[in-house]
Amino acid sequence: MPKPLTLTDPETGHKVDLPVLEPTYGTPVIDITGVPRELGFFTHDPGFMSTSACRSNVTFIDGDEGILLYRGYPIEQLAEKSSFLEVCYLLIHGELPTTSEWEAFQNDIRSRTMVHEGLRTIITGYRRGSHPMAMMVGLVGALSGFYHDALDVNDPVHRMRCIRQLVAKMPTIAADTHKWGAGQPFMHPDNAYGFVENFMRMMFGVPAEPYEADPVAARALELMMILHADHEQNASTSTVRLCGSSGTNPFAAIAAGIATLWGPAHGGANEAVIRMLSGIGSRGDIPRFIDRVKDRESGVRLMGFGHRVYKSYDPRASIIRDACHELLSNLEGTEREQPMFESALELERIARSDDYFIERNLYPNVDFYSGIILSALGFPLNMFTVIFAVARTVGWITQWNEMIGDAEDFRIGRPRQLYLGHARRDYVPTGERS
Ligand code: CMC
Repeated sequence: MPKPLTLTDPETGHKVDLPVLEPTYGTPVIDITGVPRELGFFTHDPGFMSTSACRSNVTFIDGDEGILLYRGYPIEQLAEKSSFLEVCYLLIHGELPTTSEWEAFQNDIRSRTMVHEGLRTIITGYRRGSHPMAMMVGLVGALSGFYHDALDVNDPVHRMRCIRQLVAKMPTIAADTHKWGAGQPFMHPDNAYGFVENFMRMMFGVPAEPYEADPVAARALELMMILHADHEQNASTSTVRLCGSSGTNPFAAIAAGIATLWGPAHGGANEAVIRMLSGIGSRGDIPRFIDRVKDRESGVRLMGFGHRVYKSYDPRASIIRDACHELLSNLEGTEREQPMFESALELERIARSDDYFIERNLYPNVDFYSGIILSALGFPLNMFTVIFAVARTVGWITQWNEMIGDAEDFRIGRPRQLYLGHARRDYVPTGERS
């Protein structure tokens, strides 16, 4: 047990001992809950740069070493040996399933893949050109209207049912948003397919034709989903926790997570990377683009680079870069993506030998190469962040469940502020204002 740190108010001489909490791995954490009570101060940490907001057993990231563990298992091993659905089980339950647990889990998920037809009526109210993420925010929130009455968030059995509903239905809802935009009929799930193949069929299949998923493509999508399944307390996960901390239903909390993910600094970056690569033009234009990124005036960022936690290579990015090589050499019809991939490699090479990026520890993150894979798989650009949301739902809902089940720490999230506005003043009637 590390020794507590002592904080002293120099004005009054009052002291408070702050316990130091030792994690399994990573930076120890100072418990500051006694500071307001004992010293009369709040702490100030915009962007939560140095604040741990919860205890968690789910995911660990070592940003300096480029390590990512789900429930203790290295992401590289899960990416190579596991499936997305097995990773879902692992995240939700904390352990890899036994044979019988695995059978039961798959059957349970299969039995929940369909969505209420009322949800599809809601989709048809959206304008055809709506961004699929706009539909996702609305539709997942709308699930509350279908299941809210059977959900007591304090009942672990109810919570588990809802967790499985979300995991099972997200691919169906995501594919529906695409079909509505494409003007094609909604596809019902066909549970004879595997989880990922079923998703591909609902996305790319049509009722008039049989559908067979290309195994190379299906494996690539599976890999992408494994890599995006959880990432500890990022902006969207923290949003889900904060939203869920009020006791609201989990569908509403996940909708809030989807809204947060949409932004270009977060999950929207995969879409932004492809727009950036297309906008750069030829490889010869890359140095000029890099100059614009370094120019503080232009506000241009190298999308898919940099990370709040990783200060070395994001392990997911190196797995995706290798997968990109493999996919583009084994999947037909990827002539459009090949030059894009070469531009991305060249951009990475130039950026990583440039002092601006070296000094700031800016490396490719998960989104730098993921868009190229999704594009090669045939996903339209506006579906990229939706795929991220489908995969991340299991992480969000696992973290929500962990929060609600944490008897010691669970309470409504309610940050404080440093108020710098006007001092108290009196109301002045309209005509008397200067
Ligand atoms: N291009 C150019 N400069 C950058 C970039 C970038 N992509 N990222 C950070 N910097 C610079 C930034 O200008 C700052 O420089 P200075 O210290 O001179 O002011 C320094 O690096 C630190 O950046 P920051 O914005 O303070 O770092 P942050 O931890 O607040 O932001 C980030 C992290 C991911 C939002 C940021 O790196 C970024 O905007 N990257 C591009 C968007 C992106 O790829 N997002 C996906 C993140 S990974 C997937 C996910 O979680 O969804």
